[in-house]
Amino acid sequence: MALYLKAAEILDRVERKEGAVKTLVYDSKFQNIKQLFALVCETQKFNVVLQDIIITTKLLKDTKLKMNLAKVLVYDLLIGQGLKCGGSWKTMMMKHRSRLQAELARMKVKKKVSRNVDLLSSSSQQIEGNQLPRYVRVNTLKTTVEDVIDYLKREGFLYQGQASRLEDLNNLSGKTFVSDLHLPDLLVFPPKMDFHTHFLYQAGHIILQDKASCLPAYLLNPRVGAQVLDACAAPGNKTSHLAAIMHNKGKLFAFDLDAKRLSTMSTLLLRAGVTCQQLANQDFLKVDPKSPEYSNVEYILLDPSCSGSGMVCLRDSGAEPQEESGRLQALAAFQLRCLNHALLFPHLQRLVYSTCSIHTQENEEVVSACLQQNKEFRLVPLKPEWPERGLPPLSQCLRASPERTLTHGFFVAVLERQAVGDEDERTQTLPQTGERSPVITHVDETDQPTQMPISTKTKPANSKTKRRRNRKKKNKPKPESD
Ligand SMILES: C[S@@+](CC[C@H](N)C(=O)[O-])C[C@H]1O[C@@H](n2cnc3c(N)ncnc32)[C@H](O)[C@@H]1O
Repeated sequence: MALYLKAAEILDRVERKEGAVKTLVYDSKFQNIKQLFALVCETQKFNVVLQDIIITTKLLKDTKLKMNLAKVLVYDLLIGQGLKCGGSWKTMMMKHRSRLQAELARMKVKKKVSRNVDLLSSSSQQIEGNQLPRYVRVNTLKTTVEDVIDYLKREGFLYQGQASRLEDLNNLSGKTFVSDLHLPDLLVFPPKMDFHTHFLYQAGHIILQDKASCLPAYLLNPRVGAQVLDACAAPGNKTSHLAAIMHNKGKLFAFDLDAKRLSTMSTLLLRAGVTCQQLANQDFLKVDPKSPEYSNVEYILLDPSCSGSGMVCLRDSGAEPQEESGRLQALAAFQLRCLNHALLFPHLQRLVYSTCSIHTQENEEVVSACLQQNKEFRLVPLKPEWPERGLPPLSQCLRASPERTLTHGFFVAVLERQAVGDEDERTQTLPQTGERSPVITHVDETDQPTQMPISTKTKPANSKTKRRRNRKKKNKPKPESD
């Protein structure tokens, strides 16, 4: 019963525009977040169908249920995996089941379709979240990719090596898996593969993170021992990714305005073995860039609140166009303020800006406006092999989408401080891979033998690969039950 009450409450709050589904579900403190999120998303997707059934059968009048509560119950009764409650609600719903089923059948006959999914409009039939591959990031703070692969193989999984084409990620089934073709430390499994109760997940050896969401930390690529700032950090998947890239060395300042999300983050970071962080429940816009505390911050990851329109199950917010446009305008203004604020950190060299939005207003337009106002920063051209680019003229940036990259919708830009008077020369020498470019000149403060100081020459193309290989060879513990 608690599941249905909570799901209905979230649908009510979404209708009242109190927040995005993902945020409201996260904040709900419900014990099974995944189950709640799935029910809310699926009910939203079948919203029109469910509403028609409920109205035609006069279910509300007969049961005195409120609309959203009726929707989640009818969804599970007719379309989902069956009611997960007992008692009076189950008795009541079972009493109406045949009528509700008959109405669903009548709708299908009328539309000349046989599957429930065919009742959806074509826009809701786009790729769904649970049709995307399941991406698993290996947490190199606790284990190695090789050890995770061995562990899974011993459990009956079939490792098919490194994917060479995007289609290889789409053709996985059963217990097969591959290494991703674009990002290191990322394994790819068939859609719906559930690792939430798996030992490797519970022990923090693997992180369940969409591939697109792994881009920001990977592209920021802070050196080991650096001072890094994660401006809007909770629930912290990108923070733990940054810590892994930094080998837990240096300092990772992480801010978030939301105390609840920050407390979840604290637990997740503990599980992931992150130790280099300094968390603060603080408005990033009020953090003083000139404070001596941040005088050595060289890298910033800025992943601010956004519309979430790239999240597959949130594609249609249901808002009126005018309302939506006002909301986007407010979000874009906030994002631009955050970006401008981040660029005030005096020793900042490199910044990643990312959103899980598909709207130009929150992406290319924010970045363009910021570059206009901050001439000392320029865009870094990123990963030429990535299949989807930022919209022209910002083709240096990356976009991601279910259709083109088999991920949720995403946008990422990397900004870098230009050396004074160096613009022309730099345009000639820029590396095309999204690697750190030669403008960053600093001496490595750590004793990591694999970390070379970045000189004013472009790094050799394979230096990052070597560094990652060496990182894997280090004495990382095997999975505990290994
Ligand atoms: C898109 S989420 C960040 C996700 C996170 N980077 C991750 O990978 O797990 C945006 C976060 O920004 C936080 N936020 C919003 N406004 C903020 C502000 N002014 N200062 C700091 N955090 C803020 C929200 O509470 C939310 O947790």
